[in-house]
Amino acid sequence: MSSGLQQPASQPTSTSGDQPTREMIAILDFGSQYSRLIARRVRECRVYCELLPATTTLADLQRLGAKGVILSGGPDSVYDENARHVDQEILVSGLPVLGICYGMQLLAHQLGGKVEPHSGRREYGPAEIHLLPKESGAPPDVGALFTGVLTDEQASIYVWMSHGDSVGQVPPGFAPVARSTSGTLAAMANGSGHIGIQFHPEVRHTPQGGELLQNFLFNVCGCSPNWTPGAFIDEAVGRIREQVGDDGRVICGLSGGVDSAVAALLVHRAIGARLTCIFVDTGCMRAGEPEQVVATFQTHLGIPLVAVDASERFLARLAGVTDPEQKRKIIGEEFVRVFEGEQQKLREAGDYRFLAQGTLYPDVIESTSAADAAAAQRIKTHHNVGGLPEEMRFSLVEPLRYLFKDEVREVGRELGLPEDWVWRHPFPGPGLAVRVIGEVTPERLDTLRHADTIFIEEIRLAGLYRQIGQAFAVLTPVQSVGVMGDFRTYSSMVALRAVSTDDFMTADWARIPHEVLARVANRIVNEVPGVNRVVYDITSKPPATIEWE
Ligand code: XMP
Repeated sequence: MSSGLQQPASQPTSTSGDQPTREMIAILDFGSQYSRLIARRVRECRVYCELLPATTTLADLQRLGAKGVILSGGPDSVYDENARHVDQEILVSGLPVLGICYGMQLLAHQLGGKVEPHSGRREYGPAEIHLLPKESGAPPDVGALFTGVLTDEQASIYVWMSHGDSVGQVPPGFAPVARSTSGTLAAMANGSGHIGIQFHPEVRHTPQGGELLQNFLFNVCGCSPNWTPGAFIDEAVGRIREQVGDDGRVICGLSGGVDSAVAALLVHRAIGARLTCIFVDTGCMRAGEPEQVVATFQTHLGIPLVAVDASERFLARLAGVTDPEQKRKIIGEEFVRVFEGEQQKLREAGDYRFLAQGTLYPDVIESTSAADAAAAQRIKTHHNVGGLPEEMRFSLVEPLRYLFKDEVREVGRELGLPEDWVWRHPFPGPGLAVRVIGEVTPERLDTLRHADTIFIEEIRLAGLYRQIGQAFAVLTPVQSVGVMGDFRTYSSMVALRAVSTDDFMTADWARIPHEVLARVANRIVNEVPGVNRVVYDITSKPPATIEWE
């Protein structure tokens, strides 16, 4: 398993040591907004994959044991001066390659075909595609990608297009396979595992995209759908034992969320009582959370737990701070300091050199530096990745570093985490500090906790909790005039945020029925002192983010 901090997400480093034990697909990122979605979809097919920079070489892929390669789309044109290219050796190595959009154009350009620059017109949106008659002399399996999806030339499917340039002439050895009704070459293949598609199979708007990806993974690359929670657990447990050794001890910080809980359960399965969990009450937790953590871990799961009430310390450092990045940095630093303090105390029992964290793949991707052209831009510093101080005195154990959220839930369930914990909405590391907009004070935190509890209670009562990806209340610094009874009020405004999302990277606002929203607003203004107005956030991500700070 990777060793954490020292390893930027964008470097092609093996997560499986020198001897990869499972099949792996490499996705080379040419900068498409959909690159991560490709990774999600491949994982949904139960095949392990990693998103790697465009500069990845054949040697990197061989070290990782890749069984196939997917070239993502991207904003470049192959004719741009600084256009990103794929290592030519990959294209002649015999590895199966699926080029998507810009990836298809790269295949054409680098293997001797011709890309037509767009003449000012981009094709964006749904398109209908159909198979082309097979050319005489074309390799027999050029249509392998469409097996079971498009079977004859009369049939058609809808796909999602988003491109400027397109392939005008296929490279030697390739055959055109499908075309859109508007005339764009939609697919080409050479019969030896090189396939280019102009559309995006990874987006939901390509309804049969999943089947197409399965065809590539199973029929072309020869992968099997064996990346299951059980297989992951076995592998992760082995790696944790290897990293920690026979006598190493691990501290694991529990946040109350599903990620750190699953990380702890994995480490516990690997090394038993050499794990001690630490729960730090930052004073910025949701209502009832500290009590629930203690009850579940200590009583229900029997895992050694130290609960530290550090709320005064955190709130003292947060006093007067209004800048969101500053709040995150302070909380990240304090967290580590508290752990270091506890480590000192635990030294008598052994050497706690390791710190386990529930860092997920999206955290890793999103916290990489903006300087890395292949990766996403830094949006926020997530405290469990980007905000750690330089002189960390722990080695990190991050068993979930390559998992997406829903994979973590599956693993958690398999490890016996109680069902309502498995399904808890995510909670940011800095907690309510980034949901109290402006200064974080004990009074404002209490107000927010109260409003948040009502919102979540009503969502549960309406049977909506599972459908919603994340729901919470935000305390805004806005004060407004109201009237209660015969009295004028001038009090705070609470905003409600609820989103539906696949992966928390994009999200839409949840269409909660008006009656439920009305009940929540009514209860909040009546039950929470100091709040006289409730608004509902109807912004999607992008352009907004899920959290307000
Ligand atoms: P945003 O606000 O970036 O959130 O759209 C995406 C997901 O990440 C969570 N989030 C955080 N998690 N530390 C965390 O551990 C953080 O600083 C942090 N900020 C946002 C957020 O709750 C959502 O699930």
